[in-house]
Amino acid sequence: MTLSGALVFTGNNLKTTAKRKMSKKTLVKLVFAINLFALLVEFGKCQKRSFVVNYDDDTFSKDGKPFRYISGSIHYSRVPKGYWDDRLKKMYAAGLNAIQVYVPWNFHERTPGRYTFEDDADLVGFLQKANDTGLLVILRPGPYICADWEMGGLPSWLLKDGTIKLRTMDTAYIQAVDRWMAVLLPKIKPLLYSNGGPIISVQVENEYGSYDACDHDYIRYLKNLFENAWGEDAVVLFTTDGPGNKMLQCGSLQGLYTTVDFGPGGDGTSQFNWMRKFQPHGPLVNSEFYPGWFDHWGMNHSKVAADKVTFTLDKMLAAGASVNMYMFEGGTNFGYWSGANSGYNPQTTSYDYDAPLTEAGDPTDKLMAIRSVIKKYAKVPDIPMPPATQKLAYGQTQLTAYGSLYDVLDKLTPYGPIKTDYPITMEAMQQNFGYMMYRTTIAITVKNTTLLDIPGIKDQGYIIINKVPMGIVNRNKPTGLNVTVSKGDILDIVVGNQGRINYGSLIADMKGIISNVTLGGTILKGLEIYSLQLDEFVSNIKPKSVLGFAITRPRHQEQLSVPTLYTGTMPDLPPDITQPRDTFLKMSGWTKGQAFINGFNLGRYWPARGPQITLYVPATILKPKDNVIVLFELETAPCNTASSCTVDFIDRAILNATVPSKH
Ligand SMILES: *[C@@H]1O[C@H](CO)[C@@H](O)[C@H](O)[C@H]1NC(C)=O
Ligand SMILES: *[C@@H]1O[C@H](CO)[C@@H](O)[C@H](O)[C@H]1NC(C)=O
Ligand SMILES: *[C@@H]1O[C@H](CO)[C@@H](O)[C@H](O)[C@H]1NC(C)=O
Ligand SMILES: *[C@@H]1O[C@H](CO)[C@@H](O)[C@H](O)[C@H]1NC(C)=O
Ligand SMILES: *[C@@H]1O[C@H](CO)[C@@H](O)[C@H](O)[C@H]1NC(C)=O
Ligand SMILES: *[C@@H]1O[C@H](CO)[C@@H](O)[C@H](O)[C@H]1NC(C)=O
Repeated sequence: MTLSGALVFTGNNLKTTAKRKMSKKTLVKLVFAINLFALLVEFGKCQKRSFVVNYDDDTFSKDGKPFRYISGSIHYSRVPKGYWDDRLKKMYAAGLNAIQVYVPWNFHERTPGRYTFEDDADLVGFLQKANDTGLLVILRPGPYICADWEMGGLPSWLLKDGTIKLRTMDTAYIQAVDRWMAVLLPKIKPLLYSNGGPIISVQVENEYGSYDACDHDYIRYLKNLFENAWGEDAVVLFTTDGPGNKMLQCGSLQGLYTTVDFGPGGDGTSQFNWMRKFQPHGPLVNSEFYPGWFDHWGMNHSKVAADKVTFTLDKMLAAGASVNMYMFEGGTNFGYWSGANSGYNPQTTSYDYDAPLTEAGDPTDKLMAIRSVIKKYAKVPDIPMPPATQKLAYGQTQLTAYGSLYDVLDKLTPYGPIKTDYPITMEAMQQNFGYMMYRTTIAITVKNTTLLDIPGIKDQGYIIINKVPMGIVNRNKPTGLNVTVSKGDILDIVVGNQGRINYGSLIADMKGIISNVTLGGTILKGLEIYSLQLDEFVSNIKPKSVLGFAITRPRHQEQLSVPTLYTGTMPDLPPDITQPRDTFLKMSGWTKGQAFINGFNLGRYWPARGPQITLYVPATILKPKDNVIVLFELETAPCNTASSCTVDFIDRAILNATVPSKH
């Protein structure tokens, strides 16, 4: 504004001094030319958006002025697209000026060389919406992201031949990274801040110092890859690592801005001192400040007290730091997207995270407390916090057994089994997620009760002999089961993938059965391996078309039955409500499996393990009526014992049930 004002003034000056010498026509032309020039300068100024690190003043600098971000993490892959707007508006109203976003590679390239950027994977649409909302973006495009997400965002097909060295300069790995980045990086380029978009900084890899490879050539390679795609100073590139010597040494690199991550507790001084050892100048940055934490199946629900969060946040903001809260909106690990930690500890479907916005995007007291702290240091928009979305307790509904695994095996495996002598992995079968079945006919004579051992079981296996369920094996032991078999019996092992490890040195977490199976010490030979195409099959189920079979009743004392599909229809909306609303599917009484509504995979359920009991059902997947529920129950349905098979739709989440002590 000031610049163009000055030019207009000069124009007026010219007008007065030139009055006598110029004709009126020339004058008009000149004034027009000058005004055009002023416009072009104004335009040029708009284009000269800049976001850089100011090392002299220990701050970021945005368009030449000191700047710090107060940001929150949200992952588009964990929030239905129809709710992106709602969540972003709430984050803006909370006083944030930026969001931090991971790009999960495996969400976009599910088959090698085939890319998905539609619907919930519309990355550019999401970033555009953030910009429209008035939020800047800190982008974390990986390739590895951790994120408590299946395999830390790496596609499982990388493990197909089992030899790849992930997150290193390994040729096979780098070739796959190159191909993906050649698709991703051009999409990002126009959205960089300097190009008129919201992205102020881009993280290279993720907490690389926590990975034992410590391959600086690899981090340098990624740095060059980003710079070649966008230009050398197009955006601030940075790394994030835990505050410790080994982590910062292996994770940071000359030319990339070093930041740290840590949760609430102290005042942040000791952690920022670690950052200063590796990044002597520039702004203090906590790239992941944890206002909550995620859950594992079989462990207590995580809670982080709001006052603990606000105490540390206040101290960091007082110290002038830029802070990103991880997560601000956690969302849901729909489908098979939840990850696992070594141990082996799989994460729950809900990624509520005890975050300031709940899994369903509702503002919490913690959010309001955080907003009050932000208010002390920054201008918070003078708008009301958008309210929680309306929830509806649709009520109870009856489910019917649709068919057992055996009833629909031909439909679940339209191409039939693969025949092989010894087990091959899920990845070698070119299957990413879900369930498989390994079958063999016992060809040896063994003692009456014999140990069937499956040390390579990933992750849980159901042992079924002649279609009768015998028991469960698990990678967390026991991997074996004493069975009674005779020559000629058909042994089936149904295997469930519970999510690949997303953190640490064991992320090459292959699934299925990854080593030989022995019976009484003898290696079993001659297998048929079935990839169960559950999602494709379920999306075609109509609830009325029940097959009407008799459930194979359990013989085992654990009341196991063979994996079975159940279907039903959600209760109708009450007459005074016309549009679907968010609801929660309460799985009490069921044991373990996968839940779908209208073919949308809501995720894994495991109420027998806890602490998560309800699955979030976003209104975006519901119709006004005839919503089809399908459950794939692996172990025991409520109607196996006595009562009928029902589920409830309630209006609040239950994520904190107590868990059985033996886990
Ligand atoms: C992003 O928003 C700003 C205004 O805050 C606007 O100037 C810019 O053109 C927008 N960029 C895109 C890519 O929409
Ligand atoms: C979960 O919390 C309860 C109550 O605080 C406690 O008794 C129990 O030991 C905890 N269980 C686990 C597995 O940590
Ligand atoms: C194996 O055990 C079952 C019951 O435990 C018994 O009925 C059967 O006779 C036994 N068979 C042999 C060959 O020992
Ligand atoms: C199988 O039976 C043997 C002998 O009774 C026992 O020592 C072993 O613990 C059993 N194994 C499993 C996995 O139950
Ligand atoms: C299974 O055993 C066979 C025969 O000993 C061997 O050739 C094969 O490599 C083994 N497979 C695995 C996955 O260990
Ligand atoms: C779970 O959370 C609810 C709501 O905060 C609370 O009322 C309930 O007591 C909690 N249950 C357990 C088992 O901690």
